[in-house]
Amino acid sequence: MERNDILCTCLDITKGEVEDAIKKKNLKKVSEVQDETEAGTICGACVDDIYLALEEINGNVED
Ligand code: FES
Repeated sequence: MERNDILCTCLDITKGEVEDAIKKKNLKKVSEVQDETEAGTICGACVDDIYLALEEINGNVED
């Protein structure tokens, strides 16, 4: 998935927006990304992609 691709189709949120939020706010958990961006808060189908974005940036994901 590229930065310009839509990660969360429910809310039209791109992977880049999620990545920027993770980096800027030093997010560690899926729930923190949900609170910050609202991605993953509607149908939940993109939660796996949020997890992968966290893992790519931080090397791991906190529970
Ligand atoms: S695709 Fe992200 S909540 Fe539905």
